[in-house]
Amino acid sequence: MQPVSLTRFLLEEQRAKGLINADLRLLIEVVSRACKSISIAIGKGSLGGALGSAGSENVQGEVQKKLDVLSNEILLEANEWGGHLAALASEEMDDPHPIPHRYPKGEYLLVFDPLDGSSNIDVNISVGTIFSVLRCPDGVSEPDAQAFLQPGAKQVAAGYAVYGPNTLLVLTLGDGVHVFTLDREMGSFILSQQNLRIPEETSEFAINMSNQRHWEAPVQRYIGELVAGTTGPRARDFNMRWVASMVADVHRVLTRGGIFLYPRDTRDSSKPGKLRLLYEANPMSFIVEQAGGAASTGHQRILDVQPAALHERIAVILGSKNEVERVSEYHKTV
Ligand code: AHG
Ligand code: MN
Ligand code: MN
Ligand code: MN
Repeated sequence: MQPVSLTRFLLEEQRAKGLINADLRLLIEVVSRACKSISIAIGKGSLGGALGSAGSENVQGEVQKKLDVLSNEILLEANEWGGHLAALASEEMDDPHPIPHRYPKGEYLLVFDPLDGSSNIDVNISVGTIFSVLRCPDGVSEPDAQAFLQPGAKQVAAGYAVYGPNTLLVLTLGDGVHVFTLDREMGSFILSQQNLRIPEETSEFAINMSNQRHWEAPVQRYIGELVAGTTGPRARDFNMRWVASMVADVHRVLTRGGIFLYPRDTRDSSKPGKLRLLYEANPMSFIVEQAGGAASTGHQRILDVQPAALHERIAVILGSKNEVERVSEYHKTV
């Protein structure tokens, strides 16, 4: 059978299910092309002169890597001329980026983490790009941050690229999760898996154990049980993985199951977690739920959270449904 390219897949989704229109199809294709460029820049490593620190700080207070800034620029330049977007927002920009007046505007908002896991880039560990697509609210001609403050359940599409041993694009349009592998010779993303499903049970957890003393009681209890050895019908030896690139950890969970936690901790009550809601938690939660998993703050479904700020942080507990539900139960009782 002929390999199915991303372009063909999107066209067939448009014809068969009317899930997307020409503008959204262009948006996804443009973002995928930008991810190809980012993959090439990353692949050059030190030969591309793009490793190390950019010497600047982003709104998160993080020192930006050169590739954080480069990836952000690649995504901006790829998207601003297409006429499909009303504005863009990013981890690496304080405020939304307006579409220059010389270009037409479209109905969509794109919010993204241009390089996720950037602390790993200088040590050659997998990193990624995460993106989320929203509709621009009716009647908003000059979208500001307020236009982006929509619950994750309003997303029309979400995806990520993982730059690992091979480069993958994982995408949901709201009708299942599909995986495309970059064919470097052709320069095309080729459909490699459709309708990914996360196993409801797992024996693998992902959390940064060095923060244990800061966790709240329900997470202490849950992880304590896994480390001590579960008993009864759930008795099994749990394994632990922590890549410190959300994209890599979530892709593993999507592929073979698992539970990923970056919980809120007691260090800073102003920060209810490390991960950002709009361009990390929401797109990943949309994808995980579309693959039959669950995504919770511990207290509520992440996709139901009403954002109050563009760079708002949130607690993230996502993956195999039965384990996420157990942690949520512990948040009710402890
Ligand atoms: P980013 O590189 O986009 O700032 O995101 C990094 C995030 C996420 O990718 C990962 O899960 C988490 O930071 C790792 O945090 P720790 O380094 O505290 O483990
Ligand atoms: Mn960062
Ligand atoms: Mn990130
Ligand atoms: Mn980032």
